[in-house]
Amino acid sequence: MRIKTAAQYEEWYKNAKENPEDFWGEMAQNFSWRRRWEKVQEGDFNSLDIKWFQAGQLNITENCLDRHLKDKADQVAVIFEANDPNEPARNITYKELFEKVCKMANVLKNHGVQKGDRVCLYMGMIPELLISVLACARIGAVHSVVFGGFSNQSLAMRINDCGAKLLITCDGSPRGKKQVLLKDIADSALKDCPNVENVLVFKRIEIEVAMKEGRDHWANPLIDEASSECAPEIMDAEDPLFILYSSGSTGKPKGLMHTCGGYMVWAGFTFNNVFQMEKDDIFWCTADIGWITGHSYIAYGPLLNGATQVMFEGIPTYPDPGRFWKVIDKYKVTHFYTAPTAIRHLEGFGLEYVNKRDLSSLKVLGSVGEPINEEAWNWYSKHIGNGKCPIVDTWWQTETGGIMISALAGVTKDKATYTTKPLPGVIMSLVDHEGKELEGENEGNLCIKKPWPGIARTIWGNPERYKETYFSTYPGLYFTGDGAKRDSEGNFRITGRVDDLINVSGHLLGTAEIEDALNQHKEVVESAVVGYPHNIKGSGIYAYVILDQNQEHENPEDLNKELSNMVGTILGPICKPDKIQIVPALPKTRSGKIMRRILRKVASNKFDDLGDTSTLLNPEVVDELIKHKI
Ligand code: WTA
Repeated sequence: MRIKTAAQYEEWYKNAKENPEDFWGEMAQNFSWRRRWEKVQEGDFNSLDIKWFQAGQLNITENCLDRHLKDKADQVAVIFEANDPNEPARNITYKELFEKVCKMANVLKNHGVQKGDRVCLYMGMIPELLISVLACARIGAVHSVVFGGFSNQSLAMRINDCGAKLLITCDGSPRGKKQVLLKDIADSALKDCPNVENVLVFKRIEIEVAMKEGRDHWANPLIDEASSECAPEIMDAEDPLFILYSSGSTGKPKGLMHTCGGYMVWAGFTFNNVFQMEKDDIFWCTADIGWITGHSYIAYGPLLNGATQVMFEGIPTYPDPGRFWKVIDKYKVTHFYTAPTAIRHLEGFGLEYVNKRDLSSLKVLGSVGEPINEEAWNWYSKHIGNGKCPIVDTWWQTETGGIMISALAGVTKDKATYTTKPLPGVIMSLVDHEGKELEGENEGNLCIKKPWPGIARTIWGNPERYKETYFSTYPGLYFTGDGAKRDSEGNFRITGRVDDLINVSGHLLGTAEIEDALNQHKEVVESAVVGYPHNIKGSGIYAYVILDQNQEHENPEDLNKELSNMVGTILGPICKPDKIQIVPALPKTRSGKIMRRILRKVASNKFDDLGDTSTLLNPEVVDELIKHKI
């Protein structure tokens, strides 16, 4: 059951708004439940005790796997395309995936993992990552996937914060010409993680790694030996399914917790309606399972809908910048879902690589993670979609669990640079700084008025921070942290973050975390990090750094490199600043607060638009910043 026409979209939107209980009760019937819910929805944005499908019981893997065995056992669920284009593809049918998941679930059980335990995954994009995610869900363990580009310290922080007792990793992971030494990094992380009892290690790149006796076990032979029978653990709808970390504007990353029932309905419903896949279509989402996009539109959404998808281990530019187009041609991909940063990056290589391939299988294009600029939208539409594919520009967040605002492919109209209209059940609101709701064509801060099934229920171990981060700016509303414009037809255009998060290549990074990392350098006394417009990444990272005047400094170039590498080591390579400017002081208010607005303007070369600087404690420093701007 899905929306088929624009008129039907209007009708469903109205029903979901006016009778959410009936609407979501009906939608939930598209899934298998072990026990029916008693109440569809409880709680609101004041009480924050949000619950969906109370008393309902289910296992999400039964919905992703078991129920397809009847008529799709031999249909391919996953086509694995390795980093090395010469490595043969691995096709995994629904039946094979089901068996592997059950086997891995038994391996986890044999290593003491029980319902409710947390399991951390730090792996490359191989089918075993997907299998491990589903194996956790099968036995009711809470998975927390950490992106393989994060450092040992970032990994340790996440393992300890969620209290994981088992880690699943790989010897390493190929990425283009390089290799990420995952097991080595995990070993350094584990020095600070006393609660991890067992580590399961998949072989991927066949390098020598240290294996700690009693703690580390090779996973592949264990899977081969394990039984392929594993009854699913019966979960309450509100039991946790996973924790996924997302940067915060202050402090350490937030472990957003999603639950079994509501998340399942949301991931399944949004995939079905936004992408509108038909029989024999092939879906490809280029995200990594380490991010929410990979959770909802690789691990869960496609499988909940019995789709066939490509899973890709590599990077868009290896062995050349035509890799995406080659893979689309090779597997006749029909639905392609990627990030604007990748589109802009590949656009820069010209049409030579695109024109070499037959992309006529494509029916639908998707975009996610950051605003897509008009030029990239047009290029994507014209050269990749051949002018005939609708583009679904999907706005959502780790916190929302699934797509919130998007066109429905071929059903509702797309519009360049607009993510268009909210899905049924998503009641958006634009507000001004005081929280007053703005009507009609307008621009303001983007909020959501009512709970939807996929909303993250809390920040793991920190309900106060959950309340503070999302519900305190505008009481009674969920504040997204984004600014947006709305046109006269009700289409939304996201203008970007309005808080201290920077969206770098579709990844949200907290400025505070990067500053903390810079400040750990012995020569640094203070730093301030802001975003600035970057042609390919969307935003780049600009760091202003004050050095200790009492110390001798090495030459600036070496120091910059050292600082950048240090951030890479502490947080992970994606967090490295693009530009570092050594400054004598930072512009501060009389109460000592850094005026980030001015730093952002300077970093963006908007020198004429600095606003009133006379209230600063040290207005003279602004000229200094501009003079030595990088
Ligand atoms: C941004 C990623 C514009 C936005 C799914 C949001 C977007 C943040 C879009 C969440 C889009 C995501 N257009 N901006 N289509 N999609 N964003 O948690 O700023 O990694 O708040 O989730 O990405 O990033 P997150």
